[in-house]
Amino acid sequence: MCGIVGYIGNKTAADVILNGLNRLEYRGYDSSGIATIENKSIKISRAVGKIKNLYSAVQTEKFSGTVGVGHIRWATHGKPSEENAHPHTDCSGKIVIVHNGIIENYRQLKKELISSGHKFRSETDTEVIVHLIEKYYSGDILSAVKTAVKYLKGAYALGVISQDNPDVLIGVRYDAPLVVGVGEKEFFIASDIPALLPYTKKFIYLSDGDIVELKKDSCKIFDISDNITERKINTIEWDSLMAEKSGYKHFMLKEIMEQPQTIEDTFRGRLAVEDINEFFGEININPQTIRDINKISIVACGTSYHAGLIGKFLFESLSGISCETDIGSEFRYRDLIIDDKTLIIAISQSGETADTIAPLREAKKHGAKTLSICNVMGSTITRESSSTFYTRCGPEIGVASTKAFTGQLTALHLLALYFGIVRGKITKDLASKFIDSLIQIPHEISEILKKENEIKSIAKKFFKKSHFLYLGRGLNFPIALEGALKLKEISYIHAEGYASGEMKHGPIALIDENMPVVCIATIGRVYEKILSNIEEVKAREGIVIAVAT
Ligand code: M6R
Repeated sequence: MCGIVGYIGNKTAADVILNGLNRLEYRGYDSSGIATIENKSIKISRAVGKIKNLYSAVQTEKFSGTVGVGHIRWATHGKPSEENAHPHTDCSGKIVIVHNGIIENYRQLKKELISSGHKFRSETDTEVIVHLIEKYYSGDILSAVKTAVKYLKGAYALGVISQDNPDVLIGVRYDAPLVVGVGEKEFFIASDIPALLPYTKKFIYLSDGDIVELKKDSCKIFDISDNITERKINTIEWDSLMAEKSGYKHFMLKEIMEQPQTIEDTFRGRLAVEDINEFFGEININPQTIRDINKISIVACGTSYHAGLIGKFLFESLSGISCETDIGSEFRYRDLIIDDKTLIIAISQSGETADTIAPLREAKKHGAKTLSICNVMGSTITRESSSTFYTRCGPEIGVASTKAFTGQLTALHLLALYFGIVRGKITKDLASKFIDSLIQIPHEISEILKKENEIKSIAKKFFKKSHFLYLGRGLNFPIALEGALKLKEISYIHAEGYASGEMKHGPIALIDENMPVVCIATIGRVYEKILSNIEEVKAREGIVIAVAT
């Protein structure tokens, strides 16, 4: 989740852009950059780390142009570095773009562009876009952009400027957010409304496939079929904080609602099961290593540990590899039986959890292979693992992990699937069927999120209870643990997650008419079993809240 700002008008573009980038900070960033047109030439500045680093650079170099684009980057392809920071330029340095999104077919495009002589300077997927625009450029930047985007697969919001077309700012939106801010003889583009609230309250929401050509005093929008189109100008009444949360009351709620998108982003471009080498290239592991390992050991903490418990099921059933999952802070104090045939998978949203870093280091001392599943590029865990599979959830601002958890589950499904294919445990046909189901998940989650009113009415009924139990079996046992963790940390209500088969071994004594019991009862291998556990709860007069298919 990166952020884009663009400006064309009479103000100093750098001031507007820096202010806008600063207001997009909540989208997360590890580097930032800006480009403007100054006296008919392009001027660029990029900086790693905090936006104040970019501020200092811009102040020293004195940017005064009135057309420009800027970007804050949350790395997904290529580490956070000055070379990988946006804006990116074509070979001539005259065309400049900023991009938010993921280009799924960038490897293929890059190969083709390199073989026709284009020189790449970064490791990003974005750079292919600007070289493609260069390839189709013959004096008219708008038409070059229109042609170039036809070759892109994936998600992209773009801001484009060019030295030879100094009076034009182009915006493109496809599956990634981009709004146009409307001012007096000036226009803006941005990934999100808060960036522009000090300058305008008037916004145009672009539709997927729209390309907008902005000049100081005109705005032309072309739809996906290249017809000139009108889009409504909306007036926004939100204050900046409301806008940062997209109108939700809390960041956590916003992040829960983002899940259909973040899951899709995490599997985007990673579903081509026929191209195994491409997948292993991304995670930087030789497929032979996967054939050679005889054990996977997952280490993680909190929510990431719960994802790891599900990972154990997946690696055993899809890849046929023996797998154990440990809490990071416990693993490091065990007498470890691991060697170079063991693959350690560290799971972490932040990549900075000390209790997960320590076991990773310990395992390396034993010669184990290491892989991390992480959401933050360049974080300690990613630097210390031999390879990383990134979730693409954007920053998680709510302390309680929500979208990171489902992103981790998506990553684990993909890894287990590819390991299974490479080890001959599942056929590509079966994998394709599995992927067909995976693709449905964002839609299914959207449907569940529409049940907000039902969920609220259950919450209203039970919020005064002091204790809750969560029960699940199989894959749903870790989900029960995660549900209980969420209730504890958000509602301060005591909650325990149990494998439902364990009830009869003691905890059933807790159940009476005051105990709400959340039973996860989705259709599957152990459905009948959980039904009989529900009967046990009811026999003790417990209150059953079922999460059911
Ligand atoms: O960043 P990590 O995934 O390594 O964090 C691990 C735990 O601290 C974290 O999952 C924590 O349990 C959640 N914030 C709880 O919602």
